[in-house]
Amino acid sequence: MQFDPEKLRAYYADHPDDISLDDVDLERIPRHVSIIMDGNGRWAQSRGLDRSQGHVAGVDSLREAVTTSVRLGLDVLSVYAFSTENWRRPQHEVDLLMHLFATTLVNELPLFHQENVRLRFFGDLSALPEQTRLVFQRGLDETADHSGMVFALAVNYGSRAEIVRAARELVGEALEGKLSAEDVCEEALAERLYTAGLPDPDLLIRTSGELRLSNYLLWQLAYTEFYVTDTLWPDFSRWDFLRAIVSFQGRSRRFGGVVAS
Ligand code: FPP
Repeated sequence: MQFDPEKLRAYYADHPDDISLDDVDLERIPRHVSIIMDGNGRWAQSRGLDRSQGHVAGVDSLREAVTTSVRLGLDVLSVYAFSTENWRRPQHEVDLLMHLFATTLVNELPLFHQENVRLRFFGDLSALPEQTRLVFQRGLDETADHSGMVFALAVNYGSRAEIVRAARELVGEALEGKLSAEDVCEEALAERLYTAGLPDPDLLIRTSGELRLSNYLLWQLAYTEFYVTDTLWPDFSRWDFLRAIVSFQGRSRRFGGVVAS
C-alpha cells in the first residue's frame, strides 16, 4: 500500500531514546499485521478501576493502531476483539463490549472515510445484539468502496469454528455436485474462511505477555512471525508498534525452506 512519507515522518517526529523511524526499513513493511489485544482488565485493575474502563482505554490504543497502520502503509490490520469463548465473561462485561463496539464504530467512521479504510469482520455476526449488527453493517456499507487499508475486526470469532464452517461449505458444494474430492485443496478451503482474499498475516502481535494463540487464525498464522510484548493493550503505542516491526525485520523468514543466497 502506498504511504505518505511526509505524514509518516511527522507522525513519528518526537521519538523516545530507544527507537525512531530510522530503525525501520520502509521498503520491508509487513503487508498484514494482526493483533491479539490483551490486558485491558489487568490495566484497569492495576489502577483500581473497573475492568470496563480498561476496555474503554483500549479503544484509544486501537484508534492509534489503525492510524499507525495507515501511516506505515499496511495493506491489512486485523485485531481480535471478541472470541467465541468471551461470551463466558460476566454479562455486564459482555454487554459493555457489545455497546463499545457499536459506539466506537460509529465514532470512528469519519476516520475511516478520511483515511480511505475499508472495514471487514471475521466471525459469526448473527449472534450479536441487533444494534451492534446493524452498526457493523452500516460500517461495511459505508466503507465498501474505500480502496485503502483493510481494517478487520474479529468479533465472535473462533478459528476452529471457522475451519469447520469452511469444511461444511465444501461438503455442501460436493453434495450438490459442484465439487469433487480432488477440488478440495488448501486454496479451496482458504477461499471459504473469513479471511478470503486477504494475504495471511506476516506479523502477529500479542500484548500482555501471554504465549497463547487462543483459537485465533490457526490456519492463517502457519508462517507468521510472532511478537509478544509485556505491554498491556491500553498502553500499546505507535512506538510499541514500531518495536514490533523492527523485531519482525530482524527475522529470517524461510517459509520452511532455506535462506536464498
Ligand atoms: C482483552 O483484554 C480485550 C478484549 C477481550 C476486548 C478487546 C476490546 C477492546 C480493545 C475495546 C475496543 C474494541 C473495539 C473493536 C471497539 P482482557 O479483558 O482479556 O484483559 P485481561 O487479560 O487483563 O483480563
